[in-house]
Amino acid sequence: MNTPKRYTITAALPYTNGPIHIGHLAGVYVPADIYARFKRLTGKDVAFICGSDEHGVPITIKAKKEGVTPQDIVDKFHAIIKTSFEDFGITFDNYSRTSAKIHHDTASEFFKTLYDKHEFVEEVTEQLYDEEANQFLADRFVTGTCPKCGNEDAYGDQCESCGSSLNATELINPKSAITGNSPTLKETKHWFLPLNKHEAFLREWILKGHKKDWKPNVYGQVKSWIDDGLRPRAVTRDLDWGIPVPVPGGEGKVLYVWFDAPIGYISATKEWAEREGKDWEPYWKDDSTKLVHFIGKDNIVFHCIIFPSMLKAEGSYILPDNVPANEFLNLEGNKLSTSKNWAVWLPDYLKDFPNQQDVLRYALTANAPESKDNDFTWNDFQARNNNELVAIFGNFINRVVVLTNKYYEGVVPKPSEYSEVDKETLAAVKAYPAVIESSIERYRFREASQELMNLARLGNKYLADEEPWKLIKTDEERTQTIMFVALQIASALAVLSEPFLPFTSNKLKKILRFAINDSAVPTEQSSNKQDTILWHDIATKAIILPSGHTIQQGKPELLFTKIEDQTIQEQLDKLEANKRANEAANKEVEPQKDTITFDDFTKLDIRVGTILEAEKMPKTKKLLVLKVDTGIDTRTIVSGIAESFTPEEVIGKQVTVLVNLAPRKLRGVESEGMILMTETPEGKLVFVNPNTSVNNGLQVS
Ligand code: 2FM
Ligand code: ZN
Repeated sequence: MNTPKRYTITAALPYTNGPIHIGHLAGVYVPADIYARFKRLTGKDVAFICGSDEHGVPITIKAKKEGVTPQDIVDKFHAIIKTSFEDFGITFDNYSRTSAKIHHDTASEFFKTLYDKHEFVEEVTEQLYDEEANQFLADRFVTGTCPKCGNEDAYGDQCESCGSSLNATELINPKSAITGNSPTLKETKHWFLPLNKHEAFLREWILKGHKKDWKPNVYGQVKSWIDDGLRPRAVTRDLDWGIPVPVPGGEGKVLYVWFDAPIGYISATKEWAEREGKDWEPYWKDDSTKLVHFIGKDNIVFHCIIFPSMLKAEGSYILPDNVPANEFLNLEGNKLSTSKNWAVWLPDYLKDFPNQQDVLRYALTANAPESKDNDFTWNDFQARNNNELVAIFGNFINRVVVLTNKYYEGVVPKPSEYSEVDKETLAAVKAYPAVIESSIERYRFREASQELMNLARLGNKYLADEEPWKLIKTDEERTQTIMFVALQIASALAVLSEPFLPFTSNKLKKILRFAINDSAVPTEQSSNKQDTILWHDIATKAIILPSGHTIQQGKPELLFTKIEDQTIQEQLDKLEANKRANEAANKEVEPQKDTITFDDFTKLDIRVGTILEAEKMPKTKKLLVLKVDTGIDTRTIVSGIAESFTPEEVIGKQVTVLVNLAPRKLRGVESEGMILMTETPEGKLVFVNPNTSVNNGLQVS
């Protein structure tokens, strides 16, 4: 594509049935934001678009479970998600929602256009039906065994185990998610998008066209879909939550969520343009617009095959230039999972790490799952912060600011002649915009973030080699030049870090006293004259921070602070606790044992007793040796409870004791009975004891 006139950048619309977690941020929103911020910083015309995906079955299911309406659910999570994006500095030009009127109108119109152009195939087919719920079972309303990989928990639209996209009728042993019943088959009419009809175009556009520059994971998945042969795909559903099908015979039916959601990019652009007094159409219809979709890998087929076929069938839209899909992020070795609460939720992160959004943005970018699934670990997060942000970036800035204040009361000194090292250093700084840009243009944000860190490394090394703190005693002129050069590096960092570390960049611009609007800096000797500093100015302007300019005085605010081991341990403990609570909630109750006769039961002699003495069995972890008053006698019982109780905690406790269990020796001590205990789902033992004090020796029956 020739130099684009404008950029339409979209980020996958998140489902509105839960908050956002680090996987979403790493996979889609941080890279999209880096790209959008970068483009704006290079002076481009950008529409960065997103919004809440508010239709679809999971939202209906959640509403049913909670006894509220789907609208209640989406209202709640739309607000939470929107706030998280704002909190993390994701600079959407518009964050809309698919329940908005403008979206309903746009999606309806789109459907009608395709209908009028005879781009759909109408077909009556047999679909799964739940007789008891009186409802067709589409998508996530049905689960069953995946015909491709045998996973028993596949959904009607997709198997999360093997990633296959499925039709509900393909599931083996389908079960209704509403009643648990086995569904029957019932005839119903739907509209299908004949993807087979678009196969030749897709082949030409993606496989023969210039899409070889798409990421291999994206290109590979699309190629295999096309090579497998494309089939018509239903774009309507028998549901009551969604956008009504706007054509005759569509009563009681809605558009398939994956038909309406990508149109959400268009309606959100319209909403933005209306608000800004702009024309939305060039952003979607002008050939000189570059359209880029940022998504996760589970969305590839929808953005590379189905949506382009819809756009092509409509006829007046441009197609995406690139669809940089990321792979998945795992957390501490396990798949991120909302249902298992194995995630780091953004609102929780902010509570635990207030004002540390950039640390997460950086850790997620430096370790982004760009070409394969990747693991987020709290230890890596700590190392990225302590060893890179604090020790390299923060340390360099702190030294520059402290020394400038100490030696020159915050005034940028005048350089004298540059040494060879100075010249090389300034030339190296000027090369960074192009280096980082090249990585960003290839959607390699990890690499880009490391280049940014290399610029900070360059600054650190320069100061360490030139040692202005020593020279100040002997050569003031040379020290001035060194500090001047160091301040130029700091300024370059302030500008080039903006896409990656926007909060830090703002802080740094304030410290260096770039002008109030955060992107301008004095050009000449006078701090009054303002000019906006853009990305390429770092390469082309001779000087960024002129001598005579005054930076912030006083003790500088630290850009980053060290994260202690204890803080990391707390996060690990929290995850572990979530996991256990989840396992407990899902723990299946043990099946009942074989039936016993009443006579068998009466053979058990269970009494109330009191623990009189307790001590740990030497050289064991689990055993306590107890003396128990059973009412019959005082006897020794060895009990495996030492991991749940200290001896002091149990002395004096009333417990139930099976007294006629045959004695047996444990570690040489004869145990004459058994204390009855149960184990909580969290793995803690608790006594089965009378809850009011009763006489020892009373029988339990
Ligand atoms: O996977 C998801 O979270 C979808 N809600 C993404 C939709 S992207 C677009 F098409 F709107
Ligand atoms: Zn499968």
